[in-house]
Amino acid sequence: MMFFDAIYHILYYNSSMDTVKEYARRKGLRYHVITYGCQMNDHESEKLCGILEHAGYTKSTGSEDADLILFNTCCIRDNAEQKVYGNIGALKKQKEENPALLLIVSGCMTQQKEAAKKMARVFPFVDIILGTHNQYELEAAIKDRIFDKKKTRAHAEQKQEIAEDTPVLRAGWPLAAVNIMYGCDNFCSYCIVPYVRGRERSRSPEKILREIDSLTQDGYKEVMLLGQNVNSYRGAGDMTFPKLLARICADTKIDRIRFMTSHPKDLSDELLTVMAGFPRICKHIHLPVQSGSTKILAAMNRGYTREGYLELIGKIRRTLPGCVLTTDIIAGFPGEDDQDFAQTLSLIEEVRFDSAFTFVYSKRSGTKAADMPGVVKKAVQRERIVRLIAVQNEITEEKNKAYVGKDCTVLVEGVSARDSAHVCGRTDGGKMVNFAGGSDLIGSFRAVHITQAKRTTLFGELR
Ligand code: 5AD
Ligand code: SF4
Repeated sequence: MMFFDAIYHILYYNSSMDTVKEYARRKGLRYHVITYGCQMNDHESEKLCGILEHAGYTKSTGSEDADLILFNTCCIRDNAEQKVYGNIGALKKQKEENPALLLIVSGCMTQQKEAAKKMARVFPFVDIILGTHNQYELEAAIKDRIFDKKKTRAHAEQKQEIAEDTPVLRAGWPLAAVNIMYGCDNFCSYCIVPYVRGRERSRSPEKILREIDSLTQDGYKEVMLLGQNVNSYRGAGDMTFPKLLARICADTKIDRIRFMTSHPKDLSDELLTVMAGFPRICKHIHLPVQSGSTKILAAMNRGYTREGYLELIGKIRRTLPGCVLTTDIIAGFPGEDDQDFAQTLSLIEEVRFDSAFTFVYSKRSGTKAADMPGVVKKAVQRERIVRLIAVQNEITEEKNKAYVGKDCTVLVEGVSARDSAHVCGRTDGGKMVNFAGGSDLIGSFRAVHITQAKRTTLFGELR
């Protein structure tokens, strides 16, 4: 028996008649969840917190006073994985001092069989390893660990049915995330997501509508509809994404509706028409372009050309004047030469996105791009991302400056992190606005006169 297991045996031997809930409540056990990655993961962590509360745990103030620490991981780029390794490694001492501390790793990183095995090998003191498809078995895995000393090392295959009605502990009032679909079928050649999130599965419109309706009744003001590619949503019959949006507007009273992410190859005219027809649908489209070179877009398996993308941007601007446009860009994809990169720079100058997330290409084993020739040297990748960020920063700042002197409607989200006499919230287009006010404003829509603009935030005064 390993050292930690032996200690476990002594600590928990007499507890086997308890349920996890009784046990955790009796002992006053506390949890701490650490989340990496995208909004999808943030929302999944809300569900994991919901399960932990259901299992009798309460939130700790941090990792030091926690009895259970859960890492919800991301594997989209190597640096995301390295961060996880570093942070788990740092807990070795805490676990040695307190063997009863439960360490759990779940999410995209450990959905990869090899990564889960490596995790178990490098960090044998980790108690439970789950992937993405079996996160909802968390309570059972905790029970197995506490009462039967069994370490779950599970990597589950995708299940077709979607786990509905799991408890959720929402952390973002007045904003709420709502999954409309899971998985991705696009297999962009650089991307690991289809391998760790599985095939596309859409939730039923009825379940989505019911969830939004109940959020509205609970006082939520804005929903973010989540999917890797919301434009390929397919409910029963001919329920497309634009039709779903129209139904949400018709059948629920939620004040604001956002969505993310849109794949350019699937964004339809119907979607733009529906967006134009309903003021409650926020005029913001996150439309990852990834590269400005048709050659690279083909190697990425993106399904559109530079010209096709620019045409789509023109259509959006004509149908939805003033719509905020943001994007994702990868620099240094295999085969990207100076001319390809120059095309990316010229595309961002032409489109003038409101903002962009920029990434250095990161090789993900198992993807098509991992075996592609023409690997771009690290120094060149770095040089390109620096130029990309500099050009986009200038555009972002200019775009934000255009708001100075205008009035915007802001949904107040919270007290400003920097100044407790200020609150912050977003415009319909998703721009963050900071202005003087108290916490009583949180959850209300306010007209704010913009007086100053910086790259990440607008500043203003209550009208
Ligand atoms: N390397 C760098 N960036 C990546 N992305 C996805 N996979 C990779 C990778 N292997 C970026 C894409 C995507 C965003 C969520 O992450 O730009 O749109
Ligand atoms: Fe990855 Fe492409 Fe799917 Fe987005 S659309 S999750 S980039 S495979």
